[in-house]
Amino acid sequence: MSTNPEKKKYVRTIAVASGKGGVGKTNITASLAIALRKLGKNVVIVDADLGLSNINILLNKQAKYNIGHLLNGAVELRDVLIDGPHGIKILPAGEGVQELTRLDEFQRIRLLDAFDSYDGDIDFLLIDNSAGISENVTFFCSAAQDLIIVTTPEPTAWVDAYHLIKVLFTEYQENKFHVLVNSAKDEAEAAEVFKTLTRATDRFLSISLDYLGYLPYDEDVKLAVRAQTAFIDRFPRNFISKCINEIAAKILDRPEKVKGTLQFFIGNLIAKSL
Ligand SMILES: Nc1ncnc2c1ncn2[C@@H]1O[C@H](COP(=O)(O)OP(=O)(O)OP(=O)(O)O)[C@@H](O)[C@H]1O
Ligand SMILES: [Mg+2]
Repeated sequence: MSTNPEKKKYVRTIAVASGKGGVGKTNITASLAIALRKLGKNVVIVDADLGLSNINILLNKQAKYNIGHLLNGAVELRDVLIDGPHGIKILPAGEGVQELTRLDEFQRIRLLDAFDSYDGDIDFLLIDNSAGISENVTFFCSAAQDLIIVTTPEPTAWVDAYHLIKVLFTEYQENKFHVLVNSAKDEAEAAEVFKTLTRATDRFLSISLDYLGYLPYDEDVKLAVRAQTAFIDRFPRNFISKCINEIAAKILDRPEKVKGTLQFFIGNLIAKSL
């Protein structure tokens, strides 16, 4: 395996997850990637909703290959990555792709080597997960450095968010979570949701919940989805776009963690799948 230490650089890996489905993860990941890109960062989105290709459909990008082809050894990472808007890159999922948690040894090495020998520049790896507490989700969440838990103000959404957090803490020792409240009426409602979640998780004393911000409910998001465009591009002047830009800026402001090479992410991913 070719590891060139000079090539190693700081890469932030952020997993976007939720307990309940349909709370906005894919839309948020797409617009957050663009917001980070506009702040000068090179972003790769990993579509970890492996059974369904989500991100590339949302952004109206055709995928010739998907992560399955990469894992089969049929193609190189640079051939699988597709160009999204503004130069972001997407590692697409696809129908019927074997779950990553069931990778055999060869596939794990293949994935490691694919990222290790990738010569493109990556600052951020955003992982768009499927909903729920599947092994796949917990695996990607524990492999990433940062976790964004998305919830809406609906009790079903924040109760499921609580369960996801609880599983990640009790079974995977994750203890730091960034919470993003989507589809809120206003900031006060989002703050209330965060308070409720905090009250529920306070029983696990060593958990730290951080309020990352909120996005308002905005009918235009549906129009953007239908137009297969990220809302930040379709409606850049909407308040929701201002909010996602603020969240991107906040993420950039955060101090860097000690562990942080791309190899850390992949190394961690390999270790957790053994
Ligand atoms: N802030 C918002 N305002 C209004 N509608 C929204 C908002 N965010 C998301 N939606 C709506 O919710 C739908 C689902 O969003 P999205 O696909 O991003 O959710 P998801 O969490 O990725 O779903 P899944 O769990 O199935 O992967 C969108 O198609 C859009 O119609
Ligand atoms: Mg999704």
